[in-house]
Amino acid sequence: PTALAGRHFLKELDFTEQEFLGLVELAAELKAAKKAGTETRYLRGRNIALIFEKTSTRTRCAFEVAAADQGASTTYLDPSGSQIGHKESVKDTARVLGRMFDAIEYRGDSQAGVEELAAHAGVPVYNGLTDDWHPTQMLADVLTMTEHTAKPVKEIAFAYLGDARFNMGNSYLVTGALLGLDVRIVAPRSYWPAQEIVDRAHALAATSGARITLTESVEEGVRGADFVATDVWVSMGEPKEVWDERITALGPYAVTMDVLRATGNPDVKFLHCLPAFHDLGTEVGRDIHARHGLDSLEVTDEVFESVHSVVFDEAENRLHTIKAVLVATLA
Ligand code: CP
Ligand code: NVA
Repeated sequence: PTALAGRHFLKELDFTEQEFLGLVELAAELKAAKKAGTETRYLRGRNIALIFEKTSTRTRCAFEVAAADQGASTTYLDPSGSQIGHKESVKDTARVLGRMFDAIEYRGDSQAGVEELAAHAGVPVYNGLTDDWHPTQMLADVLTMTEHTAKPVKEIAFAYLGDARFNMGNSYLVTGALLGLDVRIVAPRSYWPAQEIVDRAHALAATSGARITLTESVEEGVRGADFVATDVWVSMGEPKEVWDERITALGPYAVTMDVLRATGNPDVKFLHCLPAFHDLGTEVGRDIHARHGLDSLEVTDEVFESVHSVVFDEAENRLHTIKAVLVATLA
């Protein structure tokens, strides 16, 4: 058994710097083994429940393929396919699934919900995204960064532009703080993470050596950055009505070629957890175009398709990092 055997994976704040980086290292090993065709199946006969109260492409597929690669089976419970939260409480669901499965993944709105599931399941519970945190995404992003820079983790300068009050912004801030990065949150002040989260980040930085910047200035925020990241301006579960206000407030924070140039770093890389609105290839994109005349939102197609963009490496790394969580907690 590994040091993380039996542990939940609910939020970054539950882990030490060494534990978090240990998962990233394990993911790199599992990735190399898969590519070399030498992967060992550590999870034969294990059964994993995947509860998705919101839609997903990457997270669901990463859990399913990771489990299959490792010899485990999965059961997918879709947003309408279970009794959870409708006819049955989270607590009862936890106690039922905990009797049948070796681990449970949960994606939904509420962090309290995934924490309650963990409190009653009796088996490891993994957060596949809540409104507050996206911890499995952070493992993939850190692995991707280590693959695309020669710098040690603590020397990486990382800038996140956009809505930073939600899962991705919160997770980037605390992960950067935990690991000792130079982490910049670049957004209008009203879109910064909650003060409580900023305070936690500063407390972590005191130990890790992280440098934390919250700024409204794109120029100041991205100067010298090795990585520039963004996320959708309207997250799952938010009403359509907020589009207007988001486009007005966050328009100046869209990641364009000018923003990448403002880093002063010709090798700067672009990250996005995806899905992204960068062209008119989606229903939402076409709707935004029809109503606002915009061809892209948080990132231009030029940046998304450029040599700077490592978003598909990042997406692939969801598989290897989620596999690391499964192996570390279940093998
Ligand atoms: N990045 C991410 O979590 O993607 P999905 O919503 O497709 O799982
Ligand atoms: N902030 C986005 C992330 C999607 C992976 C959302 O919550 O919809």
